[in-house]
Amino acid sequence: MYICICHSVTDKAIRKAVQDGHDSLEAIQQQLKAGTCCGCCEPHVMEEIDKARHTAAAPDALMGLFFPLDTALPRIA
Ligand code: FES
Repeated sequence: MYICICHSVTDKAIRKAVQDGHDSLEAIQQQLKAGTCCGCCEPHVMEEIDKARHTAAAPDALMGLFFPLDTALPRIA
């Protein structure tokens, strides 16, 4: 989905940039140019940055809560 229409920046591109360490609005603006034209996408860019940060942090943080870290995950099918 396009987040920044002015520069054709998608949510996927923002997620990838965050994974690569560009995890602030300023870093995304420098890397992808999102939010540097009309600026109306800035709140959505920030929302995508937050989502990407939480998605990246969640698996490791949650794994220890539900399964002992040395336990294999249950197999389905
Ligand atoms: S929509 Fe992103 S700068 Fe205009």
